[in-house]
Amino acid sequence: MPTPLSTPANVAASSSDAFLSIRNIRKRFGAFTALDHVSLEVGKGEMVCLLGPSGCGKTTLLRTIAGLEKQDDGSIHAHGRDISHLPPQSRDYGILFQSYALFPNLTVAQNVAYGLNARRMTRAQMQQRVTDMLAMIGLAGSEKKYPGQLSGGQQQRVALARALAPSPSLLLLDEPLSALDAQVREHLQLEIRRLQKEFNITTLMVTHDQEEAMVMSDRIAIMHHGRIEQFDTPDRIYRHPATPFVADFVGQANWLPFQRVSERQVSVGPLMLSVEQEKQKVDSGRLFCRPEAVDVLPAVDAANRFSARVVDQIYLGNRYRMMLELDELPGRRLMADVSNDVRAQLPDVSAQRMWIALPQHSLHLFA
Ligand SMILES: Nc1ncnc2c1ncn2[C@@H]1O[C@H](COP(=O)(O)OP(=O)(O)OP(=O)(O)O)[C@@H](O)[C@H]1O
Ligand SMILES: [Mg+2]
Repeated sequence: MPTPLSTPANVAASSSDAFLSIRNIRKRFGAFTALDHVSLEVGKGEMVCLLGPSGCGKTTLLRTIAGLEKQDDGSIHAHGRDISHLPPQSRDYGILFQSYALFPNLTVAQNVAYGLNARRMTRAQMQQRVTDMLAMIGLAGSEKKYPGQLSGGQQQRVALARALAPSPSLLLLDEPLSALDAQVREHLQLEIRRLQKEFNITTLMVTHDQEEAMVMSDRIAIMHHGRIEQFDTPDRIYRHPATPFVADFVGQANWLPFQRVSERQVSVGPLMLSVEQEKQKVDSGRLFCRPEAVDVLPAVDAANRFSARVVDQIYLGNRYRMMLELDELPGRRLMADVSNDVRAQLPDVSAQRMWIALPQHSLHLFA
């Protein structure tokens, strides 16, 4: 049999070439189910974010992979071996939490070297490794400092260097940036992403910040009530949410109740809307449309073109959010996000009517 080629980074892994394979994990705390048959396949070198509301099970999943919680059911495989029942120290990962968790009484160098003690390394090799790691995180020359002499962002870099120093095959991050201010956080997001790619280290990161997940991930797993609702690329999560929960949780959403009229048409109250043909026909439910998909400068012959009144406008810096009321749907608000350029092309819209269109390709139907 020919040797299989290794999976390139950023390529979605199938079950056969996954580096980390989580199969049907169930975890209960008493009567409460924290993880409800979770399965996830992560490719070698892939960066995956676990994103979801508070209490959905993100930390529990990470801790289970780390061996800090014991699953009730299911198994975890890394590098082709079953690690489900191994103690944490035998699982070969680096881990980083929200709190920096550096040893305050150890120097930066001693902190970074901490994980190396278990490796068979000479003193000189260890020193070299520490120097290299500090250079890589932009803290060269800080060996002798103590954590208390560093800023929060610097401490978290040291904690990252400590996690990476033993060259683990897996990196587990639990909201590592959430204690930092916005600017430092954005900088470190890119930094972690760069290091993660450079090391080609398979990484699972927990966050509840959707922008962070979008910026950093190859793929995102959206979690809700102990389940994975969708596991997909950031672009597909945003543009093709698989469930109403995902559509609502990521980005902003307009929802309208609809009834099917024909294969390509649905009604929303008195409105008739053309929709794209679907794989699975939904007869009634809720129709979803992103605010930026609303066309406020529609062509005369545009499909789904309606007259609307501008009820309110909010300036958001890089765009306007217009609150619209369609003439035929009184009392129901529709959000439209409009770039400053497009906004400048509109007439004075306050208290006036304008045409808008809901492009077919941007309408998603959920039962
Ligand atoms: N040791 C425990 N004993 C009992 N319940 C627990 C325990 N650990 C977690 N839970 C419960 O399991 C659920 C999931 O917790 P978890 O910490 O995984 O959530 P999370 O998604 O990480 O949330 P957050 O974003 O707030 O960190 C929560 O309802 C929590 O109360
Ligand atoms: Mg958590």
